[in-house]
Amino acid sequence: MIICRTKHELKQHLSSFRNENKGIGFVPTMGFLHEGHASLLRQAAAENNISVLSIFVNPLQFGPNEDLDRYPRDEERDLALAEACGIDLVFIPSVQEMYPERPLTSVIVNQVTDRLCGASRPGHFDGVGTVVSKLFHLVSPDRAYFGMKDAQQVAVIQQMVNDLNFSVQIVPSPIIREPDGLALSSRNVFLNAEQRVQAVVLSKSLEQASKWANEPEMTIERLETLVKEQISKAGEAEIDYVELLKYPSLQAPDANSAIATFSQPLILALAVKFGATRLIDNRIIETSEVNLHV
Ligand code: PAF
Repeated sequence: MIICRTKHELKQHLSSFRNENKGIGFVPTMGFLHEGHASLLRQAAAENNISVLSIFVNPLQFGPNEDLDRYPRDEERDLALAEACGIDLVFIPSVQEMYPERPLTSVIVNQVTDRLCGASRPGHFDGVGTVVSKLFHLVSPDRAYFGMKDAQQVAVIQQMVNDLNFSVQIVPSPIIREPDGLALSSRNVFLNAEQRVQAVVLSKSLEQASKWANEPEMTIERLETLVKEQISKAGEAEIDYVELLKYPSLQAPDANSAIATFSQPLILALAVKFGATRLIDNRIIETSEVNLHV
């Protein structure tokens, strides 16, 4: 496995692969890899001749009071996991290498960023769009792999790719969960034992919500309220948002409309804090699935 720390090294290695006409699969990450990342890495390795992983904790996507300084890192473990998953090349730039000067250009995706994490983390998706477009320019992948746990990120990046004509196929991958349902996240290590037990309420509420969504009279607003009530039963849970939106446009449907009447997928997205740790999770509610049960 090749390890590159500079853009120059990366370009040299990639140009030799490109001369051999090899398809490139790319998994951008911020490291501290878990089984969710591993499934993306294995998929990228299986579907492409060359698979590239980037590990870069991107300061641009963290707000001033967010967890940039305490974001977990373990390069040695990440490299071992990448190698075991069949990754060919890892790009691990420093902040200085990615941003030698404060960038004066950013990629701002409108509308799809109006709600959810776009609203509660102002500037977050400008940082994501900017770094992902830089990485796409550096790697020029044929396919790029993103986990659906960050469903809004997938929608934002797909929109950016469409609008700016990046010639890369975005491949969304399903959320990977612990046996009890908790979605895998690098931030789960910050939960104490009690918070870890309580955090299961997120996946349980999403599962319950997909059943409630089948009730013929269930409206958008009612479902959001029921889910908020369910989550609030976990003593330490502090809700940031619980929203049922159209996916992938992430626009809000009329709150009083019946869920069964929708002819497009909806997403139920949650962000909830347990102490200082903010977790996100979501479930796509296919309206065809809803209609089947009505
Ligand atoms: O999902 C992440 O880990 C990050 O937002 C990404 C896509 C690597 C950009 O920094």
